Amino acid sequence: MSSIREIHSSGVNPATPRPLRVLELYCGIGGCRAALPGGSEVVAAMDINEAALEVYRWNYPHTTLPVNLDFISASDLHSWNADLWWLSPPCQPFTVRGLRRDTEDSRTRSFLRLIDCLSQAPPTYLALENVPGFRGSQTHSLLRSALDELGYAVQEVVLCPTELGVPNRRQRLYLVAGLEPLGPMLQPPQEHRPLGAYLDPEPSSDLWIDEELNDKYGQALSVVDAQEVTAVASCFTSAYGRSPVRSGSYLRTASGLRRFSPMEILRLLGFPPDFRLPPTLSRQVAWRLVGNSLSVPAVRYVLSAIPELAGSGSTYSR
Ligand SMILES: C[S@@+](CC[C@H](N)C(=O)[O-])C[C@H]1O[C@@H](n2cnc3c(N)ncnc32)[C@H](O)[C@@H]1O
Repeated sequence: MSSIREIHSSGVNPATPRPLRVLELYCGIGGCRAALPGGSEVVAAMDINEAALEVYRWNYPHTTLPVNLDFISASDLHSWNADLWWLSPPCQPFTVRGLRRDTEDSRTRSFLRLIDCLSQAPPTYLALENVPGFRGSQTHSLLRSALDELGYAVQEVVLCPTELGVPNRRQRLYLVAGLEPLGPMLQPPQEHRPLGAYLDPEPSSDLWIDEELNDKYGQALSVVDAQEVTAVASCFTSAYGRSPVRSGSYLRTASGLRRFSPMEILRLLGFPPDFRLPPTLSRQVAWRLVGNSLSVPAVRYVLSAIPELAGSGSTYSR
């Protein structure tokens, strides 16, 4: 296999390497896209969720496809001629607090399909994000066996954005694999902004909630203080706004207790400042979509193991 660094697109100065072609699978609202540095291009982004794709399209011009990956074929995948497959498969089958049905969970079907397709259409690089409980699952060992058989070098890391200076927990397992040698993961510049710096200047009045919630759930409720410089919000999940516990933090403010807005969560996830949610999107759906997304600086850190994406700087690409 020729090195992708030797491949050049037609009409381009042969001294200029062509951008790394990325196929964003389970793209959601485009967390991977937000993390990609310059020197790369998304050739297609696929997801089954139309609302997520609408947010993606609102922000990025790339080809987005409503696809059920349960039925994707190796030739479909191959036709995109992608150098990197990015995967954010559903994590419910592997979460420690869930049933951990792993390969028996219907939500793993598409992931197993992609593992099956790998041998017929192996990309130069593959990277994925899932919950730490994915490691040790049968699906994880099927993936690792497929990658080993095909000769991929593999790196795995469990990382929380708090380790990058972000005041929001979201511990995840990341895997990056390459048929070309991988480099070290490069530490991005540290954030170290207090929680207050991520908050809306004029939060919507309907974010405030009844203090009774605090009385009812007590210690089970994660409450952080907006004024506290060392405050760290807990992981926001897709259940935020529906389930009061274990779905993300509430904010203690001078005027009472309130939820975080979807835009505040996006800021904590490291999305670019000009990222927008369509005005027609309800707050409930917005919470579900952002809670499903990912930590942009953590993904950027992991992708820096791919030599073509290392050293491209920490700025957002458009
Ligand atoms: C953990 S979320 C990934 C979110 C994404 N990384 C983001 O930044 O928003 C998993 C995504 O997989 C999608 N999904 C689940 N099953 C799917 C399937 N069979 N085919 C395509 N997409 C699927 C969901 O709609 C969801 O957007």
